[in-house]
Amino acid sequence: SKGAALVTAVAQRLASRKRQVDETLAPFKLSQEQLQLVKATMRAGLEAGLKNKGPSAVKMLPSYVYHTPDGTEHGKYLALDLGGTNFRAMLVKFKKGLQNNTRLYHKIYTVPLEIMQGTGEELFDHLAQYVSDFLDYMGMKKAHLPAGFTFSFPCEQTAIDTGILVSWTKGFKATDCEGHDVVNLLREAIKRRNYDLDIVAVVNDTVGTMMSCAYEDPQCEVGLIAGTGSNACYMEELKNIEKIRQKKQKTEGDEETPETSRMCINTEWGGLGDDGSLDDIITPFDAEVDHNSVNPGKQRFEKLTSGMYLGEIVREVLLDLTRGGLLFRGRVTETLKTPGIFQTKYLSQIESDRLALLQVRSILQHLGLDSTCDDSIIVKEVCGAVSRRAAELCGAGMAAVVDKIRENRGLDHLNVTVGVDGALYKLHPHFSGILQETTRVLAPQCNVTFLPSEEGSGKGAALITAVASRCSAQKER
Ligand code: GLC
Repeated sequence: SKGAALVTAVAQRLASRKRQVDETLAPFKLSQEQLQLVKATMRAGLEAGLKNKGPSAVKMLPSYVYHTPDGTEHGKYLALDLGGTNFRAMLVKFKKGLQNNTRLYHKIYTVPLEIMQGTGEELFDHLAQYVSDFLDYMGMKKAHLPAGFTFSFPCEQTAIDTGILVSWTKGFKATDCEGHDVVNLLREAIKRRNYDLDIVAVVNDTVGTMMSCAYEDPQCEVGLIAGTGSNACYMEELKNIEKIRQKKQKTEGDEETPETSRMCINTEWGGLGDDGSLDDIITPFDAEVDHNSVNPGKQRFEKLTSGMYLGEIVREVLLDLTRGGLLFRGRVTETLKTPGIFQTKYLSQIESDRLALLQVRSILQHLGLDSTCDDSIIVKEVCGAVSRRAAELCGAGMAAVVDKIRENRGLDHLNVTVGVDGALYKLHPHFSGILQETTRVLAPQCNVTFLPSEEGSGKGAALITAVASRCSAQKER
């Protein structure tokens, strides 16, 4: 009969649509072998970066942080934090031995896009103004507290308080900063505003996160950020860090004591693949996202794994499916062509299993996308494929890091804690679970505990500042 023929036709159309969507998403589904390969590629990247043979994709930047906290840190410190669209100024107080007694006051300032992408002088003038505002607000302009500066971009450090910006990442592109010491840039901007600030440490957010978690858990020797950007740090043996070793030999009489046998390395693993080593897993959608970014060809691993780019990958896939007539009735709207519409928070909402499909449709509606029920199923599938791959890749990277620590120490088995921060980790419904599972499978000889940090990078910078100002006070004596 006619009716039955129609039903069959509809069913066939749906089946073929499903097949085509599956085909589009297939390159995002990584096999165990591929993930093992990513782990091996990351391991090779870590090793190459430690060698002193010029620039490498994984930069492996020394942090001049030799110890995790020992609980004797005390006093009041200022922590300044620039890493994404916000700048945070914070007052942190530690009491000796009372781990849970840190007190924090903070204020958040939004850095406007035109400042992030204007001149360096304007950017740092803004930061100096925020700091001045915070000190006025706290009534502490005259207090001269030691300050730690969390600056979450790759910096070549030669001491705890110098950091030369190698290159901007995460959408920043202020001029005249690359190649300059960012501590100096901030000091000069502060001078221009006629007040004083004693900046004693510059810290990557991964390092700050590791330190703040290590304050509570001494097994914490790794830091991870899964947020706007993607990066990790870990405690490496000094003898393996060629760049430091060579410098050390020049300064005579600098004996290595057992306690200073390690240093935290900011891996900048987001740069993995910048030499083409990830080309096998990069899809045309990833290539498009890279091409449209402010730093094409750079931070390839970060562009597969971090919040700033996942939404854009999703958008590229949706565009493709729509052009193929598989979504949104084949209509490519202006909204769909707008970069940045899928922020991490929307991905997190769309993928939440507690949401009914009708609610997914209402989120899409809110974003300006008119969807049918079938559309919403497909959108959710796309988001799932992209974020699962991100979490798996992060897990593969983490497996490489923890296995390196284990081998460094000649152990068959390693227990280690990873301090973590970032919205992707904290707010996405599945990312953290997949990351942990992947790490477990790919590093079976390690028992890895993930510890979410509270106020991590700021508190960590303050801890580092506490240690640094204690050391410099000892030197002066
Ligand atoms: C980017 C930065 C890196 C930072 C990470 C997380 O990858 O280059 O320094 O740690 O984002 O914020």
